[in-house]
Amino acid sequence: MPGAADSHGLTLRQDYFGDPAAWAGLVALLQDTFGIDVGIQDRFGGPDPTSMPFGYFDGSGACVANFSAFSMPLMIEGRRVKAAGFQSGAVRPEWRGRGLYRDLMRRAFGWCDTQGFELALLLTDKPALYQPYGFKVLPQYQFSGPPPAHAGLAGSSRALLLDDPDDLALVMRVLRERTAVSSAFSVAAQAEMFLLNSHFDPDIRLAHLEQSGAIIAWRSGEAAFQLLDVAGRTIPPLSVILAALDQRPGRIEVCFPPDRLGWQGTPEPFVSYTSLMVRGDAADRLTGPVMLSPMAEF
Ligand SMILES: CC(C)(COP(=O)(O)OP(=O)(O)OC[C@H]1O[C@@H](n2cnc3c(N)ncnc32)[C@H](O)[C@@H]1OP(=O)(O)O)[C@@H](O)C(=O)NCCC(=O)NCCS
Repeated sequence: MPGAADSHGLTLRQDYFGDPAAWAGLVALLQDTFGIDVGIQDRFGGPDPTSMPFGYFDGSGACVANFSAFSMPLMIEGRRVKAAGFQSGAVRPEWRGRGLYRDLMRRAFGWCDTQGFELALLLTDKPALYQPYGFKVLPQYQFSGPPPAHAGLAGSSRALLLDDPDDLALVMRVLRERTAVSSAFSVAAQAEMFLLNSHFDPDIRLAHLEQSGAIIAWRSGEAAFQLLDVAGRTIPPLSVILAALDQRPGRIEVCFPPDRLGWQGTPEPFVSYTSLMVRGDAADRLTGPVMLSPMAEF
């Protein structure tokens, strides 16, 4: 397929993460566009091996435009769904308005269709960009309410730090072995975004529950205890999580459907500057309010 950029002397590259110079080019593009350093992933085992990046590079090797797909299996209404996420969409300012992003979107969505993904997801502050390709905004809800009754024998917990190599290895192992945190809507397998989000947000705390071996991602605000994710072979009840963390908040906010927590909250619209957009029939099976865990944001 001839590229939109052929006449501009750019080279199209696909699936290029095996080339360290090209990966560094994408790191620079995302640093310059969004002010984030995804190169930190090199410390966490490198970029997601399921990634399928599409990028345009200039004669000096600089990445001037990119859009990537990656595999993110989801649990939806009790069934594992083959889903793809799209991320790292950016075009350098001097190259904008020439159809480069349109070209990369078509390639990435086309690739996704040939791979048999049942669902495609992305998070964006520009929903209009993706509507022509069949993406629809999926409203998100967080779940709020009073805490459950205090659990008795819940065991204890230990705070984890990703800077500690042993803690990092533990988190990576538990993420590999995890069960879905919600049967209604959650990530079934994907470690890279959990690690990256923990790294980028200094308010996110990680704790290891000694009894169940689960890892809890949480934030403590003045108004509420926020549960962001639970990674483990089993999902402990919310009462046990709070007791093990020694937290007695007045109010709880759970940032994923709480169907496996032994607790029910009231769904409240989740206000964010980004919208979750989906494409594919699998989304039609959703019967209740959902939220993608902030630990899976991409
Ligand atoms: C958004 C961005 C990727 C567009 O790149 P681009 O190469 O200039 O886009 P294109 O020229 O290929 O335009 C593609 C289409 O998107 C539309 N578009 C471009 N910018 C848009 C915007 N900000 N909002 C909505 N639509 C937009 C164009 O009108 C065009 O529509 P068409 O296909 O119907 O003609 C680029 O402006 C950018 O990098 N912005 C900063 C980072 C960003 O916002 N990334 C997207 C994150 S989800």
